[in-house]
Amino acid sequence: MVVRVELAEAVIVDDPSFRALLDDTELARADRKRVPTPFIGAHALVRTVLGARLGVPPQDLRFRRLCPTCGSRQHGKPTVSDHGGVAFSLSYTDSLAVVAVTDGVEVGVDVEHVSEADFGGFARVTLAPDEVDAFDDLHGPDLLRARAQVWSRKEAILKATGHGLVVDPTEVVVSPPAEEPRLVAWRASEAAPDVVALHDAPLGSVEHRAAVAVLADGPIEIVPVSG
Ligand SMILES: CC(C)(COP(=O)(O)OP(=O)(O)OC[C@H]1O[C@@H](n2cnc3c(N)ncnc32)[C@H](O)[C@@H]1OP(=O)(O)O)[C@@H](O)C(=O)NCCC(=O)NCCS
Repeated sequence: MVVRVELAEAVIVDDPSFRALLDDTELARADRKRVPTPFIGAHALVRTVLGARLGVPPQDLRFRRLCPTCGSRQHGKPTVSDHGGVAFSLSYTDSLAVVAVTDGVEVGVDVEHVSEADFGGFARVTLAPDEVDAFDDLHGPDLLRARAQVWSRKEAILKATGHGLVVDPTEVVVSPPAEEPRLVAWRASEAAPDVVALHDAPLGSVEHRAAVAVLADGPIEIVPVSG
């Protein structure tokens, strides 16, 4: 069955009116950050998108978190309180926020600025040994774009399952950058998801790469929505 994923993208801007959309917990988290603007912009986007979808004023939404690793409710994958029929995932960089929303199907989205993939140990911290060869013929900007795409595929899966980086990304093998996105192998000791569908998310920003994962057979249909 096709899984519809609504995807919203917003450039991070310093808009003072966004603070009024956030709750006290979010504002406290924002104010602990050296640069609060990306956090505030990203959470304003989540609230605006979910509020429009659910017919609720953005500032009235409440969220819960649950960590599948330790059971804590202080961190872990967030869900919207009182609206079980909708699931969402948020990802952001210093300059872009992306939100994915489904009709309750577990979803993960990840966005990466291609420059974040420009470091020497990328293969060691991100790739399984059998994934490395696919990057051999890539250089310069092509290499960074390919790295960012594969990295976002892995993190999208780990955000859909809720594990996050508790699972080592080198133990989550995805298809090579030039191939259709799919989960190839789950080598982590944590329980593998029964089914995963993966999609490279189209973005307006050419400096970023993103992917969406859902815990369903798929395929995924991406529907752009405004923030
Ligand atoms: C989830 C995670 C991969 C996101 O990493 P990132 O690339 O820095 O950040 P992104 O912008 O892509 O995503 C951040 C958002 O993902 C969501 N998120 C947080 N934890 C999540 C999880 N376990 N699963 C899915 N989504 C999660 C939140 O909305 C978060 O936004 P916020 O921090 O502003 O509230 C990373 O924070 C992580 O690994 N967290 C788990 C660590 C953990 O749980 N440790 C304790 C285990 S006991």
